[in-house]
Amino acid sequence: SALPDTDFILFGGTGDLAVRKLLPALYRLHCQGLLPDPMRIVASGRTPHDDDAYRAWLRAALEARGLLLRDWAGFEQRLHYQPLNVHQQEGFAALAARLRPDRTRVFYLSTAPSLFSPICRGLHAHDLILPDSRIAVEKPLGQDLASSQAINDDIGRYFLESQTYRVDHYLGKEAVQNLLALRFGNTLLEPLWRREWVRDVQITVAEQEGIGSRGEFYDHTGALRDMVQSHLLQMLCIIAMESPPSTHADAVRDEKLKVLAALEPLGGAAVLTHTVRGQYLASAAGPAYREEAGVQADSQVETFVALTARINNWRWAGVPFFLRTGKRMHRRLAEIVISFRDVPTSIFDTPLAGLQANRIVIRMQPQETLSLHLMAKRPGDGMRLQPVSLNLDFSKASQSRRLAAYEWLLGDILKGNLTLFVRRDEQEAAWRWIEPILRAWTEVGQAAEPYAAGSWGPAAAEAMLARHGLYWHTGLDLEGQDP
Ligand code: BG6
Repeated sequence: SALPDTDFILFGGTGDLAVRKLLPALYRLHCQGLLPDPMRIVASGRTPHDDDAYRAWLRAALEARGLLLRDWAGFEQRLHYQPLNVHQQEGFAALAARLRPDRTRVFYLSTAPSLFSPICRGLHAHDLILPDSRIAVEKPLGQDLASSQAINDDIGRYFLESQTYRVDHYLGKEAVQNLLALRFGNTLLEPLWRREWVRDVQITVAEQEGIGSRGEFYDHTGALRDMVQSHLLQMLCIIAMESPPSTHADAVRDEKLKVLAALEPLGGAAVLTHTVRGQYLASAAGPAYREEAGVQADSQVETFVALTARINNWRWAGVPFFLRTGKRMHRRLAEIVISFRDVPTSIFDTPLAGLQANRIVIRMQPQETLSLHLMAKRPGDGMRLQPVSLNLDFSKASQSRRLAAYEWLLGDILKGNLTLFVRRDEQEAAWRWIEPILRAWTEVGQAAEPYAAGSWGPAAAEAMLARHGLYWHTGLDLEGQDP
C-alpha cells in the first residue's frame, strides 16, 4: 500500500478510550484493508499482560461491547503488548527492543495528560523518536491556558509541531467535514453565508448519557472545558471561517485561527446575561450529578452550558452564535442550525409571522443529515404557505461505507495528514477565549442551575434566546413533528 510501514504504539492500551474507540477503529480499518501492511500495534499499559494475554483480554472486551470480530485472527497478528510504567525505564527499554528502525512510528497517547511529559521523556531517553515519528494526543489538553501551554511545551521539547496530532474527534465526523464541502464546493450558499443574510447560528451537542464513571475527571472539568473549548469551538470555526486557499493543513488551520482571534471576549458581569450553566437532577435514568461517584456533594460544576458568542469581523459582526451542550438531555442530538433572515413582508394569506425563516440544518447525530427548510404553498385552496424541507441523509446518499470519526482520524495520522488536527496556536486561542468565562463564573458567583434530566436544560437557556426573539430549533423532526 502507499502508506508507510508502521509501528503504532498505543499508550493507555487497556484504558477506556482505547477499548471504546481506538482499537475498534483500528480493527475496522484493518478489515477494510486501510491499515499499512506491515503495521504492528504495540499496546502498552501497567497491567503485566504478555501478547497472548492481551489479545485474549482485548478480544473479550471488544466482544462484550458487541463487536463482531470476523477477522480477529488477522488483526490479532498485528497486536502486541508491552507492560510499561511510564515512571520507570525498563518498560521503555523493552519497547525499544521491539520497535523496528525502518518503520514510521506513531505514538498515540491515550492517557491522562499528566503522563504525556514522562512518556515523551522516556521515548527521548531511549532514542525512540525518529524524524518521521508522530505523536497523537487526546483532549483534555489542560485545564486553562497555562496548563495547556505547559503540556504543549512538554510535547514540543521532543516533537515538532508538524509531528504533533492533537485529536478533536468531532473533526473526524463526516458531517463536520461535509461542512467544508458544502461551503466551498458550491456557489449557492457562500453569497448568503454572512451577516447580511444570516440571522443567527445555533450549535447544539446534547447527550442523553450522564457522566457515567468519569465523575472524578468531570468534577474538575465541566461542560465548558470538556465540550465547548474543543468540539463546539471547532465547529464554530468551520462554519465561520473564510475560504482557505486549499485543504492543506496549515491553510485550513490559519483560517480557523482567525475566527478564534475575532471572537468577542466574554467575561465579567456579561456572563450573567450571555451564559447559562446547568447541572442535572436525578431521574429514572440515574442519580443527580451531585450524587454520581467521584463528584462532590456540593459541586458547582456544570453539566450543561449555553452561551452567546460573537465574531467581530466583517462577515459576522452582529450575528449571534448560540452554543449549547449538556449531559442527560432530552435526546442525543448534535447539529448546527443556520437561520436566515425573515422575508421583508408577506404577500400571501399567511401573515408575515407565519412565514418561517429559512434554515439549513447540518446534523451529526443521531444521523448525519443535511436539510434545507423552506416555505412552500399548502396544497388546496387559497395562497397559504407551510414549511417544507429538503432532506439529505448521507448514509443513504452513498453506497460506500462511511468511516467513523476515529477511523478517519487514525487513517489521517497514518497518512501524515494534519488538516483535521488542532494546531497549538488554535488550541491556545480557544483557551484564551474560554478562560475569562471560567474566571467570571467564579467572580460573579454564577451557579449551575439544576435542570430535570431528560429536559433541554435550565429555562434560562430558552430565556437567553427569547431576549433575541428566538428559540432553540433543534431536533423537532426527530420527534415525529413537522420541522
Ligand atoms: C468527549 C467528551 O470529548 O466527547 C465527552 O469528553 C463526550 O464528555 C464526548 O461525551 C461526546 O462525543 P460524541 O462523539 O459521542 O458526541
